[in-house]
Amino acid sequence: MIRTPEFTRLANLPTPIHPLQVWQQKTRGVNWWIKRDDLTGSASSGNKIRKLEYVAHAARTQNAQVLITCGGLQSNHARTTAIVAAQLGLKSHLVLRGTAPEVWNGNYMLDKIAGAEISYITPEEYASANLAIMQELAQQYDRHGIKAWIIPEGASDALGTFGYAKAVAEILEQSKVLGVEFDAIFCATGSGGTQAVLILGKILHGWKAKIYGINICDDASYFENKIRAILSDVKTNFLPEIKIMDAEINLLDGHVGDGYARTRPEELVTLVDFARQEGIILDPVYSGKALHGLMQEFANHSLPKLTNILFLHSGGIFGLFPYAEQFKEVC
Ligand SMILES: Cc1ncc(COP(=O)(O)O)c(C=O)c1O
Repeated sequence: MIRTPEFTRLANLPTPIHPLQVWQQKTRGVNWWIKRDDLTGSASSGNKIRKLEYVAHAARTQNAQVLITCGGLQSNHARTTAIVAAQLGLKSHLVLRGTAPEVWNGNYMLDKIAGAEISYITPEEYASANLAIMQELAQQYDRHGIKAWIIPEGASDALGTFGYAKAVAEILEQSKVLGVEFDAIFCATGSGGTQAVLILGKILHGWKAKIYGINICDDASYFENKIRAILSDVKTNFLPEIKIMDAEINLLDGHVGDGYARTRPEELVTLVDFARQEGIILDPVYSGKALHGLMQEFANHSLPKLTNILFLHSGGIFGLFPYAEQFKEVC
């Protein structure tokens, strides 16, 4: 018996799935579809809102007054948390990697507009102690009689992941209506949560589609461990009966390029090409980099034979704006 956690409706769901009839001409014989999780909302658009429906609900029902979370300076997750907090009448406190920027734009500007309190930490502190730093902050709030709630990076904890797994039921329902059976799903992998969700959904629904994550930072072995850990957390907390098989964790490694949030002209060219052919804007950090990697996989013939594929657009529109100078070079 599955214990379904409660949630607060925050996202506009279901998000559409539609074909990419122009783009698919680049990979003869493969039918492309896209899942538009960039349309889950306006200022709160993207994949993170699906997790926050559960995580923020839990915080609110436990009478939390402040949501604390962490991410990069242009984190989509941090921005979504700041917006959601405002929407729910809570405060937000973001622990961001970097220093206060002189120029405000993209997600960071929305954090400010939404009234987030921001603490800045170094990349080294972030890598070694982001959770400890958030715990210290929560204790400081506690000393002032304010209950704070920590949301881990990307809201990729058991609750966020389990909640987000509903997206798979949504995809299955839509594929029935569309009369298409996907044989592979591709997503950008940044903290591992989204890919873990798709794998979980596959396990829960006996889905045949193979799930591929295109990691936009770190490497395959880092994410194999991370995704295994997220799934076993879900197993412990919600679904003791599920069997997690390592073979389900497939990463298309080798497309990180110059590093997390660093772009190369060829990646931006793919993003621009896609925008001009399909009228859909991907982002340079996640989905755009992932699509560029996927096109390389097709060019290298390194994927098995595929007929119907689904590409997950996980949002990130505001993350484009800090790259204005690089876009000038390719537009
Ligand atoms: C727009 C966007 N797409 C994809 C991802 C990757 O998702 P996940 O962190 O669940 O791996 C993120 C966040 O990291 C994101 O902000």
